[in-house]
Amino acid sequence: MKNKKIIAIVLAAVLVISVGVLAACTKNGGTDEPSTEPVSNTEVKTLTMATNASFPPYEFYEGEKIVGIDAEIAGLIAEKLGMELVIEDVEFKTIIPGVQSGKYDMGMAGMTVTDERLESVNFSDTYAKGVQVVIVKEGGDIKSLDDLEGKMIGVQEATTGDIYASDEFGDDHVTKYANGALAVQALNAGKVDCVIIDNEPAKNYVEANEGLEILDTEYTVEDYAICFAKENTELQEAVNGALKELIADGSVQKIIDKYIPAE
Ligand code: ARG
Repeated sequence: MKNKKIIAIVLAAVLVISVGVLAACTKNGGTDEPSTEPVSNTEVKTLTMATNASFPPYEFYEGEKIVGIDAEIAGLIAEKLGMELVIEDVEFKTIIPGVQSGKYDMGMAGMTVTDERLESVNFSDTYAKGVQVVIVKEGGDIKSLDDLEGKMIGVQEATTGDIYASDEFGDDHVTKYANGALAVQALNAGKVDCVIIDNEPAKNYVEANEGLEILDTEYTVEDYAICFAKENTELQEAVNGALKELIADGSVQKIIDKYIPAE
């Protein structure tokens, strides 16, 4: 009598376990019933990168796709980490808040490391350098930095160009745009007298727009890096490890050379 009871309990337990195992198998690719869950959610972790994709050659659209130095380096990092890269194109000023709140895993947008930003986010090792330059109308009356006094300066909001221009000339002399392309459009239309922006995008904009040139004087030299939420040191370290390898084996330089041909 007692034995029978035990056998019954054991049998019941075996039954419960096998049903569980069966259910688990079906979920992970059983053939008779297709899983409703997308594979990427159950197997591959996504790496969400926030950027502002009107910043060639670092991030820009080729058709529907975001390409460029940052997009390609991030792609290789994700590959090394076995993650699936998802790139979100957002306004530059929303990148750091979005990374802080965990909406995005990281921000990669030709983003300059500054002391002020280091108070809100952590940065990876740097992978590229940028220089702030001034775009003007060809043959206009701005010939050097001294001529900027009293002029209207166009910038992309919340960038280092914005910060320098606002600090030096005052907010009244700075018009902020959501991205660099819009600032250059305003320069073309005569709404601003110049645009302060990073040198490589500046070269791209000048090439794409007739009648613009870059002043010979350089503003500041800056380091670009990837930003992470302060508490997400695990991802920061993983990305840094991958980035180190990609710098050491020449992959990063290869990508930079592909997008910035030597003059
Ligand atoms: N380097 C500048 C900064 O960090 C400008 C970056 C703008 N990047 C972009 N993808 N729009 O403030």
